[in-house]
Amino acid sequence: MPKPGKLVIIGGCGHVGLPLGIVFANCGINVVLLDVSAERIATVNSGRTPFMEDAATEHLKAVVGKSLLATSDTSCLKTADAAIAVVGTPVDEHLNPTVTELYKNLDNIIDLLPEGALLVLRSTVYPGVTKLVYDRVQSRGRKIHVAFCPERIAEGKAMEEIRSLPQIISAFEPEALQRVKELFSIINNELIELTPLEAELAKLFTNSWRYLNFAISNQFYLLAESYGLDFYRIYEAVTRRYPRMKSFARAGFAAGPCLLKDTLQLSAFSGNNFFMGHAAMLVNEGLPNFVVSQLRSSGLRDKTVAILGMAFKGDSDDNRDSLSYKLRKLLILESKEVLCADPYVAGEDFVSAEEAIRRADVIILGAPHSMYRDLPIPQEKQLVDVWGFWPERQPAKTTAVTAGHRAS
Ligand SMILES: NC(=O)c1ccc[n+]([C@@H]2O[C@H](COP(=O)([O-])OP(=O)(O)OC[C@H]3O[C@@H](n4cnc5c(N)ncnc54)[C@H](O)[C@@H]3O)[C@@H](O)[C@H]2O)c1
Repeated sequence: MPKPGKLVIIGGCGHVGLPLGIVFANCGINVVLLDVSAERIATVNSGRTPFMEDAATEHLKAVVGKSLLATSDTSCLKTADAAIAVVGTPVDEHLNPTVTELYKNLDNIIDLLPEGALLVLRSTVYPGVTKLVYDRVQSRGRKIHVAFCPERIAEGKAMEEIRSLPQIISAFEPEALQRVKELFSIINNELIELTPLEAELAKLFTNSWRYLNFAISNQFYLLAESYGLDFYRIYEAVTRRYPRMKSFARAGFAAGPCLLKDTLQLSAFSGNNFFMGHAAMLVNEGLPNFVVSQLRSSGLRDKTVAILGMAFKGDSDDNRDSLSYKLRKLLILESKEVLCADPYVAGEDFVSAEEAIRRADVIILGAPHSMYRDLPIPQEKQLVDVWGFWPERQPAKTTAVTAGHRAS
């Protein structure tokens, strides 16, 4: 298969663009990471990753300055054989999908790319955006091949998953599809073809499914705990050697830059008839409120509360849309003092986990970082562990009883 001489990744220093660029560069492709963040560009060009991503740094070091370079200079597009766009696609303050700067400035990209180039959209987009881009290219009389290939990695696992997860590819025209096949078969040998609208929905279904899945667990958590029961005793009982509950997630703060906003994109696409999506949002976003209301019943006014983990998930430095911040806001109104700690996220008034534990009456686990596993937390401290991260701090586990004898 012919390899592109030069690949530009637009939004290339981001959580999706950077690992993807590194993987292509490791395969011998000449990669340019085009980005607007001067800070991220400088970090990447010095061989460091601007955020935590397993194994990315060692692979970056092997290619930076050789087959990979980061820049803000859009003229790199002029000589690109292919460009992949992976800028952020957030929802706005009213929770509606937005047209980002990139899509607003799409004409610049279309005009800069040479005739015959391939333009791949990899951001998670509102259904129909690929068609809009395709039509825009046609209306400007340009022969640029447009494709949509959604990214499905989980942050932190990108380097492994880009190569191991099947890649969904889509395009409107056979030539564009052929070009995108050639491109993605460089990094992955399992490609799945869909139409662009199917592929756009496939990505939104994936993230909404995960978000709904977490909401089911969180709803059950709320239910059990509001009756004074330990959710994880029930969880253990129903998941143990029972394959049909394999996908039953643990409870936890379901947040981050993707799951909620993609559920909302799907909701907007459904004409706001995606009732399960809205219900999931109420449950997941309501979990911090539930935690606070449970604590309120045992008195909060005179208590110092510590939140351990401000990232949106464990072992991550990404605090985008983290529910720990919502929790903090609620607690500031109701408690004597709120202390925040996170080994990976910087915050002006953050303290160390040790100080937070020492000073707090109540400790809430915000993000289950592995390094918290062995933190000594005195028994007398009140602990809220929605994630079931410290099983030894939960009430006694269920015991399997078999005919005639008890399993230990
Ligand atoms: N983060 C994930 O785990 C993940 C997984 C799958 C899909 N996605 C999707 O991928 C897309 C990107 O997400 P992300 O987490 O990588 O975002 P990010 O914010 O980490 O990265 C986006 C990058 O784009 C740059 N950028 C913004 N505007 C630009 C412009 N006009 N030109 C060039 N660069 C520009 C930013 O500086 C940033 O470095 C989103 O649509 C997201 O939904 C994210």
